[in-house]
Amino acid sequence: MTRIGRIYRIAGPLVVAEGLTGSMIYEVVEVGEEGLIGEIIGLQGDKAFIQVYEDTSGLTVGEKVVATGRLLSAELGPGLIGSIYDGLQRPEKAIAEVTRDIFIRRGMKLAALPRDKKWHFVPEKSIKVGDRVEPNDTLGFVQETPIVIHKIMVPPDISGVVKWIAPEGDYTVDDVIAVVEKGGERYEIKMYQLWPIRRPRPYKKKLEPHEPLITGIRIIDYMFPLAKGGKGAIPGGFGTGKTVTLQQVTKWSHADIAIYVGCGERGNEMADALYSFRRLYDPRRKRPMMERSVFIANTSNMPVAARETSIFLGVTIGEYFRDMGYDVILVADSTSRWAEAMREISGRLEEMPGEEGFPAYLASRIAEFYERAGHVVTLGRPERVGSLTIIGAVSPPGGDFSEPVTQATLRYVQCLFALDYTLATRRHFPAINWLISYSQYVMFVRKWWDEKTGGEWSKFRAIAMNILQREAELADIVRLVGPEALPEEDKLILEIARLIREGFLQQDAFDPNDSYSPPERDHVIMKAIMKFYEKAREAVSKGVPVAKIRELPVRLKIVKMKTYPTDELIEKVAPEIMKAIDTEFEELVKKYVIEAEAMR
Ligand SMILES: Nc1ncnc2c1ncn2[C@@H]1O[C@H](COP(=O)(O)OP(=O)(O)O)[C@@H](O)[C@H]1O
Ligand SMILES: [Mg+2]
Repeated sequence: MTRIGRIYRIAGPLVVAEGLTGSMIYEVVEVGEEGLIGEIIGLQGDKAFIQVYEDTSGLTVGEKVVATGRLLSAELGPGLIGSIYDGLQRPEKAIAEVTRDIFIRRGMKLAALPRDKKWHFVPEKSIKVGDRVEPNDTLGFVQETPIVIHKIMVPPDISGVVKWIAPEGDYTVDDVIAVVEKGGERYEIKMYQLWPIRRPRPYKKKLEPHEPLITGIRIIDYMFPLAKGGKGAIPGGFGTGKTVTLQQVTKWSHADIAIYVGCGERGNEMADALYSFRRLYDPRRKRPMMERSVFIANTSNMPVAARETSIFLGVTIGEYFRDMGYDVILVADSTSRWAEAMREISGRLEEMPGEEGFPAYLASRIAEFYERAGHVVTLGRPERVGSLTIIGAVSPPGGDFSEPVTQATLRYVQCLFALDYTLATRRHFPAINWLISYSQYVMFVRKWWDEKTGGEWSKFRAIAMNILQREAELADIVRLVGPEALPEEDKLILEIARLIREGFLQQDAFDPNDSYSPPERDHVIMKAIMKFYEKAREAVSKGVPVAKIRELPVRLKIVKMKTYPTDELIEKVAPEIMKAIDTEFEELVKKYVIEAEAMR
């Protein structure tokens, strides 16, 4: 039921309307003659406070405001994949066609999913007329792209007895493909459903994370692993690599569906991301990346309030594909811009400000976002397991992690990939600081990695982390007295730490051979470093100086391992290097022992 009020006051993206009694929080309203989309975020007496998701310039007091009785909802169905949406799920392509303009015209109503496109629907064989169906039961399938089978599911709020199901054939999303009856009421089910973006979609049960979500980034996968269904944050100052890292994750991660939310960042970065995606091929499936990706763009030139809807729209689409039994990755760049929008709106509402002017509900709103990640048994038959993994970038001003958005985020995530300004200026990329980053998924993914590496992963990871920590401890002494004053054992630690940093941790996102590093590749590189370390320790114990070890030609070969294509590295280069480590150390030790004996 719609109600009509009038604009009483306008303050940027916040509009106050009167005459909307009986409205509810988060109800969608259409503001002004153009019908700008907004949501009621506060009610006081007969005044409704509305956050408007479109540019409000030109609105005037007294214009009408229509309360729709609906909640802001996502359209979920075939046609999502490959789309580029704004925060109100208006498709960029359609917009460009309609307006011949890349900017989105205000008040424009566009269907999120194409209405005229026909999809080939294949009914689920086990479903017959007279069967009872429950929420999320699979009714049929649509091959949405060559790599995504879209399951057409009973919407989460519907159950009943099947009265009719469409035969295999071509249908639009608006065609009815099944009729379900409950308590004398008939529900027509179409290939798409609506779901309010602020409400988490239901599932049967949450599972512990147990499998890593491989991202193709060595320092993440090997040192600070992410789990399917996990949540992580990547905070970093300007230029430290948030955008590059999130784009890498979206491109290469072993997820079935990737969702990229560009939230309040520059439009040209978003355009770059789209451009590179359009040319990219998934190395595992040999298909274009766009065939499994969804983009949501709410760049800095777009209305600030819609940053929040772009985040929740992304999560809702993610949960929907999770419900089909897929592994979904969602990245958001940057959640700080969303928090800044909250601060602006809260200021206009004249709410009591919390820390640094952010509203008191900042933390709970951030929690609502990350808590929608998870590894779950979904509702619906056949039973399936799906996951939604979330990584959010945080842009703390001046790179200071003690600020409220970073702090609030750290309370809800299980992984921290902390970007470091000093590393970035030294061009050590990814500039993830290994001393303060962490992952609480290490114990959950241990089994997976150790099965793959014959138990070596746990061992190597612990040794490498230990060496890197020892290097940091030794740094103070080195600063005071120089490296030459250190005992040979400690010099060796510094040498191996350098090898780990240069040969393993550093990874150039723009190197065609090293942009994506699968686990097998990570492991052969680490294995070579560990073998070098073991042989070096032996040599040092026999009196060989570290200075001599540093000069071995194989050291540089190890650093260069990552420049080879993965297959060549694993089949040819790595075995040669393993052999070279043996022979070079054997010679070095022999020569050194003979020389030492001759001296005696
Ligand atoms: N993994 C990486 N490999 C190579 N270069 C990188 C990497 N990460 C960041 N860079 C460099 O740093 C620059 C800034 O990164 P960007 O992701 O735009 O920073 P932020 O989003 O944090 O401001 C990039 O343009 C690129 O030159
Ligand atoms: Mg950026």
